Amino acid sequence: MSEVMQPEELKRLFCEKFGGGGEIRCFFAPGRVNLIGEHTDYNGGHVFPCALTMGNYGVGRRREDRKLRLYSVNFPQQGVVECGLDELVYEKKDGWTNYVKGVFRALEQRGCALPGGMDLLVYGNLPGGAGLSSSAALEVLAGLMARELLELPGLSMTDLALVGQQAENEFCGMHCGIMDQFASAMGQRGCAIFLDTNTLTYRHVDVHLQGVRLVLVNSRVKHSLVNSAYNERRRQCEEALADLRRVRALGALGELTEEAFGEIQDAIRDETCRRRARHAVYENQRTLRAVGALEAGDLPAFGRLLNESHVSLRDDYETSCPETDLLAELAWETPGVLGSRITGGGFGGCTVSLVEENSLALFQERVLAGYQRQTGRTAEIYVAEAGDGAREISSSFVLYSG
Ligand code: GLA
Repeated sequence: MSEVMQPEELKRLFCEKFGGGGEIRCFFAPGRVNLIGEHTDYNGGHVFPCALTMGNYGVGRRREDRKLRLYSVNFPQQGVVECGLDELVYEKKDGWTNYVKGVFRALEQRGCALPGGMDLLVYGNLPGGAGLSSSAALEVLAGLMARELLELPGLSMTDLALVGQQAENEFCGMHCGIMDQFASAMGQRGCAIFLDTNTLTYRHVDVHLQGVRLVLVNSRVKHSLVNSAYNERRRQCEEALADLRRVRALGALGELTEEAFGEIQDAIRDETCRRRARHAVYENQRTLRAVGALEAGDLPAFGRLLNESHVSLRDDYETSCPETDLLAELAWETPGVLGSRITGGGFGGCTVSLVEENSLALFQERVLAGYQRQTGRTAEIYVAEAGDGAREISSSFVLYSG
């Protein structure tokens, strides 16, 4: 599934690109899969993601001048991109490095005095464009490496998640919530994170499911204009909230139960905005119930809530697409599948399914064959492991996981 790259090899490449000498350190920040709670994070609701064991690796060294020199093993054609900390601007042609630039900019905007720059080599083993948050993983990686290599004081892992979100919102123009960066920063092996995005209070919940695995299926489709469609959803929720505030004092859609929403939903004038808000309210309540079901050991109930989440994303929120609908349907029809839904921002990307271990082979066969037959495309399957959040990796690390 993912490429293997040994640490020695990455360090060798680093020295080849940037020269040897000095203290060279290695870090890792994971991607994430969201189990339930989709498009609730910018509506003051709850989310339930886990960090993956796949993500971005960074090899870096502090610089005493105010320069960043950046290279990615995944985008060799980009070469080494160099920029000064005093001239951090978004440039489309700079591709992936914009996320790193955005993090340094956000750090300065938060009042961190940066005593120097950095040479950074990045290698990622997340499938690209699959909606598994490779950009959030890059932001958290860059923030963590800046904190450690430049010895920046007073930054918690939550702060680094917020810095990453700020980079994405303000520098890259994607008005995302906090979920992806938070999951990358705060993941814990074997656990999902039950996060209240309104208060940033959270707890880890064990997802070592007896005899059941979390399976990702990558549709390998990414529809265009994803960012603008995402930003549009967010704007529609804001419009719905503004209408509701004419009849009730309300901080966010996530404060409403289904019943309370039913009482006041007519205040939302635009029909599309009403459906968007209904998704946000119902999805948040589903997330609360899903965590309850999981903690009570009721996996079938957890699975049903996953299915309901998909239907709501398909019909009310319209962030699914024919390919991910097909993947969910093929999963629903397969014996041994407890639940399946599109995960992440949408418009392509992956589904996540709860599959009984002894049905894994059947699942793989049916879903891959059905998808190929009906779309002519080849999907990819990964059995996911919930992994730890961003961290430094000791010299003996193995650069392969998954
Ligand atoms: C993207 C965003 C997240 C979240 C999800 C949808 O991944 O980055 O903040 O809104 O979409 O749940």
